[in-house]
Amino acid sequence: MDYFIESAPLEKLQSDCIVVGVYQDKQLSAAASVLNSHTQGVIAKVVSRGDISGKVGETLLLNALTGLASERVLLVGLGENKPVSGKNFKKALQAAAISLKKSYIKSVASALTEIPLENLDVQWNVRQVVENFNDVAYQFTAYKSDKTTESKLEKLIIAAPENLAGAAQTGLNQGKAIAEGVALTKLLADLPGNICTPTYIADQAIALGKKHASLSINILEEVDMEELGMGSLLSVSRGSRQPAKLITINYKGGTKDSKPIVLIGKGLTFDAGGISLKPAPGMDEMKYDMCGGASVLGTLQAAAQLQLPLNIIGLIPSSENLPDGDANKPGDILTSMSGQTIEVLNTDAEGRLLLCDTLTYAERFDPEVVIDLATLTGACLVALGRVPSGLLGNDDALCDDLIAAGNIANDTLWRLPLWEEYQDQLKSNFADIANVGGKDAGTITAACFLARFAEKFRWAHLDIAGTAWRTGQNKGATGRPVPLLVQYLLNRAQS
Ligand code: BES
Ligand code: MN
Ligand code: ZN
Repeated sequence: MDYFIESAPLEKLQSDCIVVGVYQDKQLSAAASVLNSHTQGVIAKVVSRGDISGKVGETLLLNALTGLASERVLLVGLGENKPVSGKNFKKALQAAAISLKKSYIKSVASALTEIPLENLDVQWNVRQVVENFNDVAYQFTAYKSDKTTESKLEKLIIAAPENLAGAAQTGLNQGKAIAEGVALTKLLADLPGNICTPTYIADQAIALGKKHASLSINILEEVDMEELGMGSLLSVSRGSRQPAKLITINYKGGTKDSKPIVLIGKGLTFDAGGISLKPAPGMDEMKYDMCGGASVLGTLQAAAQLQLPLNIIGLIPSSENLPDGDANKPGDILTSMSGQTIEVLNTDAEGRLLLCDTLTYAERFDPEVVIDLATLTGACLVALGRVPSGLLGNDDALCDDLIAAGNIANDTLWRLPLWEEYQDQLKSNFADIANVGGKDAGTITAACFLARFAEKFRWAHLDIAGTAWRTGQNKGATGRPVPLLVQYLLNRAQS
């Protein structure tokens, strides 16, 4: 997709379609009024007739208009005639993008730049336009013979008067970096497990490193992990024919002595559960168990594109979890890199077995903070559904920063307690700790397990089991939590 900021008068703006807002009291937005006055009042006429109610996300496409350089105008409802909330603006943008997807439109101009928003600025506005149009345009057609269903959207124009052009340009740059990070994440996530193996993810990381001089890549092989004593991580990979990889992506944008932000992403390229085999229905979705890892790649790509003045290290432990003669068995006892022993009571709780050794490995980077992202527990879906990601951590300030970033990015988090009392559920009769804590509070006990390996730094854990992909008819990766993470990094870069 190509992007442009255009300051020409709206009636002279050349595109296949201009998007403008209307309110539910039938008031036209300022941009809609301008177009209305150049089209003999046709917009006011259809709105007053009630062809569009102006409710958030309603759309109406007007075609073959005369008097404008663009022949189509898409009206989109913005709800009540008052500053629009971030959530409603996103809803309107998604609806606009979906309704344009069906028609033969290659170039779209957003004339929503001057819409008054609730506590949000023009930069945010443009960023959301870029993100949401890209989000809707994305289609995974790599393995479809018929590619004619692909989105034809090639060009996105942001209409902005001269005085807003600077803010619009910043928003556009940020939106583009986030959208491309999200797209990379979605593409990797939607790839099937027979293509997207740990080796494939490692190769993608190497390719990303070649594209950006500020990114350096290091891949640890199983022999290297053995030397480091990563008995927990390696035990999962033993049940698979694909070798595990521990991928490090090092972004150096900050000063030499500034401590790095470490991002760890679970990269399970297929989770069958191991010997504690999962039931068949929906098991295909466990190709998405690498979404945390993919989000680390997408976020580091965005950081490099934006040349953020920060040091960031991405770590992706990647493996499959399959049943095999050499796989973990219930009752097995592992020795982690930290020295703590783990009793495997359920081989399907494998994510924490990868993450614990990666957390210990993160100590060597002397991190400012460590944030891990993992499709860790089905229990998170039960607790929170598919709206926010779960958040747990050992540092209130870090958690607050992440929540704030999520609220701005429209990529929300909800914090759960990580209280000492829950640790009791992880007691083992035979080892230092059990890898599962029973059926109560599964998301919390999973985080309690990780917390034992994160005592040496400020740490937060994002459980993205409910948010990393959509299920059902519209099955597909979402790219979350890349928008939230990039927002967090942008905030850090500013302070
Ligand atoms: N990858 C799954 C978690 C998951 C399940 C994410 C369903 C999204 C949808 C994880 O490895 C897992 O299997 N967790 C177990 C933990 C249990 C054995 C304590 C779970 O959630 O069932
Ligand atoms: Mn599992
Ligand atoms: Zn898993």
